[in-house]
Amino acid sequence: MTKIPFYDMTRQYRALQSAVDIAVRRVFERAWFILGEEGQRFEEEFASYLGAKHGINVGSGTEALHLALLACGVEPGDEVITVSNTAVPTISAISFANAIPKLVDIDPATFTMDVNKLEAAITARTKVILPVHLFGQPADLAPILEIARRRNLKVIEDACQAHGAMYGDRKAGIFGDAGCFSFYPSKNLGAYGDAGFVCTNDAEMADRLRLLRNYGQRRRYYHAIKGFNSRLDEVQAAILRAKLPYLDENNQRRRQIALYYDRLLEKTPVTTPPRAKYGTHVFHLYVIRAPQRDALMAYLAEQGIETIIHYPIPVHLQEAYRELQMDKGSLPAAEKAAEEIVSLPIYPEIRDDEVEAVAECIRLFYK
Ligand SMILES: Cc1ncc(COP(=O)(O)O)c(C=O)c1O
Repeated sequence: MTKIPFYDMTRQYRALQSAVDIAVRRVFERAWFILGEEGQRFEEEFASYLGAKHGINVGSGTEALHLALLACGVEPGDEVITVSNTAVPTISAISFANAIPKLVDIDPATFTMDVNKLEAAITARTKVILPVHLFGQPADLAPILEIARRRNLKVIEDACQAHGAMYGDRKAGIFGDAGCFSFYPSKNLGAYGDAGFVCTNDAEMADRLRLLRNYGQRRRYYHAIKGFNSRLDEVQAAILRAKLPYLDENNQRRRQIALYYDRLLEKTPVTTPPRAKYGTHVFHLYVIRAPQRDALMAYLAEQGIETIIHYPIPVHLQEAYRELQMDKGSLPAAEKAAEEIVSLPIYPEIRDDEVEAVAECIRLFYK
């Protein structure tokens, strides 16, 4: 039986082995492991790729969001508006900041924040709007930024799944007060361990983030504020530097695979992912809506094809977030998506014949 895993990281390593090995050896030979030249160069290179003035490496995407919230001045009891159909860490970061997540529903077409629901969720305690660029597609930023400006709120973009995605003619992540990225290994730009990044055009915000990630110290043993340890190590920074030059071509390949899936699935009852007019999708995930979703997944698994649901239970219905007191039915579009969606294997090194095999099995299931 053919086995088609959801993602095969070994193919990527084989494709980039010499560049990655050289980068890692460079760090070992220099024997400087924390906050050094590789990290600084990567901050400059990724910020420049995004078109942002400042880039700050941190330990993970979750920490990027947490520290960005603190750098925006979020205090205990403040409210942060975001969506429920996201990776739980979006919300964990809000909890870490002792703030309260206010979850609004999504636009069913893009799976991102429904901007029409935003204004009604704003209260006197609201500090930040936190749109999530889910699956590789930006949220509709223009109306979000307009509301934020009018209501004097900060905007933090969760771009953890959207490296290189465009909103209009600029990169997602650079529109808000801060943009947060994860380099979890399977991301469009992934490290070989945990890693994260915040970009901003605000020099003061950048300064606060640099303090927050390094015990609050500007100079060794002189602590200006209470901080954390959220530093990216030099090995990961060097690997990210080696991989960054391939990001655009890998995103292009992801888009090509997505188009191929679209075409192969045309005559099936599944709904392929719609693309918003305002931007470009970088297909971190290829997410379809499928009738009889669970039976389809079971059938594909029997054929050796691995699929995943991103995410099966929206945050407001998770046990850990019972305190939000949001019952089933409170966010109908997010809940409906969770019942219908499934992600198919997509990554730059997947072969066309594997994509064809996945689509063929889906066709056979609905026959
Ligand atoms: C949308 C979103 N936000 C936040 C995170 C957290 O990133 P990390 O796993 O690097 O902490 C992730 C990654 O899993 C994510 O997909």
